[in-house]
Amino acid sequence: MSTIDKIKELKEQRDAVILAHYYVNDEVQAIADYVGDSFYLSKIAAKEDAKTILFCGVSFMGESAKILSPQKTVLMPDMQADCPMAHMADIVKIQEMRDKYEDLAVVCYINSTARLKTYSDVCVTSSNALKIVQALPNEHIYFIPDENLGRYIASRLPDKHFIFNDGFCHVHTDISAENVKNAKEAHPQARILVHPECTPDVTALADYIGSTSGIIDFATANEAKEFIICTEMGVLYELKHKNPGKRFYSVGNHQFCPNMKRITLEKVADALEQMSNTIELEEDVRVRASKPLERMLELGS
Ligand code: 13P
Ligand code: SF4
Repeated sequence: MSTIDKIKELKEQRDAVILAHYYVNDEVQAIADYVGDSFYLSKIAAKEDAKTILFCGVSFMGESAKILSPQKTVLMPDMQADCPMAHMADIVKIQEMRDKYEDLAVVCYINSTARLKTYSDVCVTSSNALKIVQALPNEHIYFIPDENLGRYIASRLPDKHFIFNDGFCHVHTDISAENVKNAKEAHPQARILVHPECTPDVTALADYIGSTSGIIDFATANEAKEFIICTEMGVLYELKHKNPGKRFYSVGNHQFCPNMKRITLEKVADALEQMSNTIELEEDVRVRASKPLERMLELGS
């Protein structure tokens, strides 16, 4: 039996659905029930009826699914698939900021550990951060962990005072403005599509800035035929599938997230077969982390 047939059979037996982020390997996206950006996948995780969720992505995604759907079994194909940025904020610094500013909202990018979420007021993803921060009554915003997403949102909300944290995504910060300019010189007709985890000198060159889904939707709707893609190259699978007549260019050869690429079909089949790699969280942590995530779903919808 092929690995794909085995996965199909095990999915039925386990009453499982497979969620996959756009950055995982093409063949994994191809067998998933739902593929999307972080916000879409968290909404699916919160409302799906199946008993088991197999999350093809990194740890914070599986954790968020478990936080929002505690009654379900949440499996990860590879427990080592972790986002380094999810750990790049400090609880002591959060408390310092709370002591300094009475009117402080701690806004936590969903790319964060469950523990960091417990110290936060609201979670955001790249597709809803602007809407959510704008809706907050607070003037002072401590944005964790990603400095670049924080700076991008701050540039759009000049009436708020932002404090930044020095977290970053190595995949997106490796995309340099120089390489983007070179790609534009090579393809002058191409539109430049940028994820907001990129540095400000790269977002400054963009024709469009948005989440993975935003980038795919923009390229699909836009009349241009060529696009320079400034995010992880896993998005190419959906971009090419939806736009067979258009061309997509990278800006170097580092646009791969090694953690997302750990997910393989074999690991998907193994996790379903053994019901191994389950996400377990202390109930106290889960309940406290659910508050900012639920608030995100409420404000972001
Ligand atoms: P989005 O899919 O929300 O754009 O997130 C990008 C990302 O880095 C996920 O790890
Ligand atoms: Fe984390 Fe960046 Fe990989 Fe996304 S692409 S999981 S932010 S390291």
